[in-house]
Amino acid sequence: MKLTVVGGGSTYTPELIDGFARLRDTLPLTELVLVDPDAGRLELVGGLARRIFARQGHPGTITTTADLDAGVEGADAVLLQLRVGGQAARQRDESWPLECGCVGQETTGAGGLAKALRTVPVVLDMAERVRRTNPDAWIIDFTNPVGIVTRALLQAGHKAVGLCNVAIGFQRKFARLLDVAPAEVHLGHVGLNHLSWETSVRLGGPTGEDVLPRLLTDHGDTLAADLHLPRPLLDRLGVVPSYYLRYFYAHDVVVDELRTGPSRAEKVAAMERELLELYADPALDEKPELLSQRGGAFYSEAAVDLAAALLGRGGSPLQVVNARNDGTLPFLPDDAVIEVQAEVGPEGARPLAVPTLDPLYAGLVQHVTAYEDLALRAALEGGRDRVFAALLAHPLIGQYDQAEALTDLLLAHNQEHLPWA
Ligand code: G6P
Ligand code: MN
Repeated sequence: MKLTVVGGGSTYTPELIDGFARLRDTLPLTELVLVDPDAGRLELVGGLARRIFARQGHPGTITTTADLDAGVEGADAVLLQLRVGGQAARQRDESWPLECGCVGQETTGAGGLAKALRTVPVVLDMAERVRRTNPDAWIIDFTNPVGIVTRALLQAGHKAVGLCNVAIGFQRKFARLLDVAPAEVHLGHVGLNHLSWETSVRLGGPTGEDVLPRLLTDHGDTLAADLHLPRPLLDRLGVVPSYYLRYFYAHDVVVDELRTGPSRAEKVAAMERELLELYADPALDEKPELLSQRGGAFYSEAAVDLAAALLGRGGSPLQVVNARNDGTLPFLPDDAVIEVQAEVGPEGARPLAVPTLDPLYAGLVQHVTAYEDLALRAALEGGRDRVFAALLAHPLIGQYDQAEALTDLLLAHNQEHLPWA
């Protein structure tokens, strides 16, 4: 089985390699290709990747290339994990929205729109090249903003599924708190990518006992502290929001924090420098502890599980993924992309039925879906008015003056990536 990772020079890649090595019975890779335009990074990351495979006795080969077309040839699945403009562009996404009193974040709000505008055309171009060389390959998209990027891929008719580590992170956390095996924990996960809630936590499968009330009673303080949200909020909701909901439920507090502290991009850039130095050490043959400080915990395990299921090699039959709504959330268009439990197999991902969603969540989901729709239009067609419309539609923006000012800032900070701007 051959798998290609686009953006394989990412400092995150050793996390993925570690998962491929440990879980080789689930996903028996014979060939892994890392594709990246940055030759220096490819050499460092590729070197460590080979040493991790060797240490763990993985028989698969690992090759590196800057040539996307050559890299995807014969691949059964292609993982997209790229960041157009790198951490420097992310740093800007996290900064200029603050000038208007809006949250600066790489997937939420105005920064997220900038990232979508830069990323969608690049990913669509890559997917087209994958399809030309290799029409049967599955595309697994980790590239943010995952909801909008996956919607773009599906609209263009690609064989694609979007993936994020938020759900698997909750599954592992709840399993630890409940002292059960992660596979025993079935999440009632609903919403959009980076806008989701755990509305039930069932043991043993989708019809098992719902232990969410017990989890909140016994571990509410821990959960609230991890999410940096007040415990009474969790008690009132009776569900567990993902940490991205903090940008909504505590927007002004977050803006104040972001204005004073170093940005996540700055912290990550410093970590990346350190990681690359570690990767250059020929004696290192496992993923370093420092990598656990990045946000992508468990993403390798989610990726292995998804690839295995899509390629008909086992993997969990039910997984939380980003897929076409198709009536699952009846208040959204069919072609919206939602993040829910889905049945996954060689035919793709089919969302499971979701219990009626409380208006407390449904309203926000609908609002953000409308923003995503406009964001995708702006990414595909360009134009200042479309950027403005998407910003005005965003529930965290919504005001004329701010949407105008943010449009100008977004365009000024992204000239090099937006040929139409
Ligand atoms: C989480 C999110 C990803 C995001 C990552 C950022 O894992 O689910 O979508 O890319 O955090 O992590 P970083 O370490 O770059 O801040
Ligand atoms: Mn994510």
